[in-house]
Amino acid sequence: MNFSSRTDLTINSGLNDIFKTRDSETISFAGGLPDTDLFPRQELAEALQKVITSDNPQILQYAGKQFLPLREKLASKMQKEGLLTQPSEILLTQGAQQALSLIAQLLIDPGDGLIVEGPTYVGALAAFDAVEPSFYEIPVENDGINLTVLEHVLKHHEVKMIYTIPDFQNPTGTVMSVAKRKALVKLANRYDVMIVEDGAYRDLRYSGTQLPLIKQFDTQNRVIYVGSFSKILAPGIRLGWLVTNTKILSDLNALKNSCDIESSSLILQGVNQYLEDNDLNQHISEIHRVYRHKKEIMHQALINYMPDSVKFNNPEGGFFIWLQLPNEYDMNQFLNSYLLPKQNVTLVPSKNLFASKNILNQARLNFTGSTDQQINDGIKRLGAGLKDYLMKKTVSC
Ligand SMILES: Cc1ncc(COP(=O)(O)O)c(C=O)c1O
Repeated sequence: MNFSSRTDLTINSGLNDIFKTRDSETISFAGGLPDTDLFPRQELAEALQKVITSDNPQILQYAGKQFLPLREKLASKMQKEGLLTQPSEILLTQGAQQALSLIAQLLIDPGDGLIVEGPTYVGALAAFDAVEPSFYEIPVENDGINLTVLEHVLKHHEVKMIYTIPDFQNPTGTVMSVAKRKALVKLANRYDVMIVEDGAYRDLRYSGTQLPLIKQFDTQNRVIYVGSFSKILAPGIRLGWLVTNTKILSDLNALKNSCDIESSSLILQGVNQYLEDNDLNQHISEIHRVYRHKKEIMHQALINYMPDSVKFNNPEGGFFIWLQLPNEYDMNQFLNSYLLPKQNVTLVPSKNLFASKNILNQARLNFTGSTDQQINDGIKRLGAGLKDYLMKKTVSC
């Protein structure tokens, strides 16, 4: 039997590669994994225990509608950030991933123009691939998406949606400037385009000043904000949310119902209980302390061990450092023929992080999922592998 072409597109997206490691000795900088020691297991266990042993048997029943107390808490969290929103504008989803997939299903028909950053989050490309858009890729600069190229594309093509990760972008770690956030909304208004603002890493700022959401500049209901508990609590609870106006929300909710009927009541109520009994901001501060330290270890190791021709950044938050080799080198080839077999280290080569699949000389390094020792050893081995690779390539040229 032939499966639909949709499966080919998604299965070949590269998302699965990120979770692949050779064996337990492999040092992986590939996954976007949080540090398991930071999961508040005890507190979550207590919260889940409390709700499941409560007198309310409905806890395990179909809920029929989205759980209000958690939406109220999220509305209040977003209000504290400066976004005037209501619980009725918040949809709870199974991770930010489901939000991206639902939005793509709602907004995009096959062939419709969809703008993504180059590079971008591989899982978003997987979700978008399934609806078969025409991708337009806009380079990401140190201060966010390149607006000149963006405007050129908007001027010459029909585009329905722009997908951006303005805070600690996955994979580059960059933050979009305030000026660009404002200009982006203006362009979206002028060219009648929706913006999807993915804030999966927004709460993870380790230094510098937090910037306003793009959605705060939105006066025409064009920006759908997507949030996630994966990086601030745990990805295993599969809980995210989106913020949009009630009309779009009801369409997205209908699509969600067709996909999973509803999210797990147990998880929604358990997380709500966790938030009532614990201080999420204090937990996030602890995450900041640990990840700031890990990022500094990785950055210092890169300074110590990288050959001069290799460039890397020092982001103010998020999960990733971005590595750039000179143009002529291929990170996929380096990973498969040097880094993994000889040094037992993995990373994500840039190819699958670009919708165009044509940028080969860059890579994403995750610093949150490894221990200090692994970070130092892994970067040392990466440096040795790169020196070897760059030298052999130069000789063979
Ligand atoms: C930018 C970005 N958006 C969305 C997601 C998906 O998050 P969730 O685990 O909430 O589905 C990820 C996961 O790594 C991500 O990096």
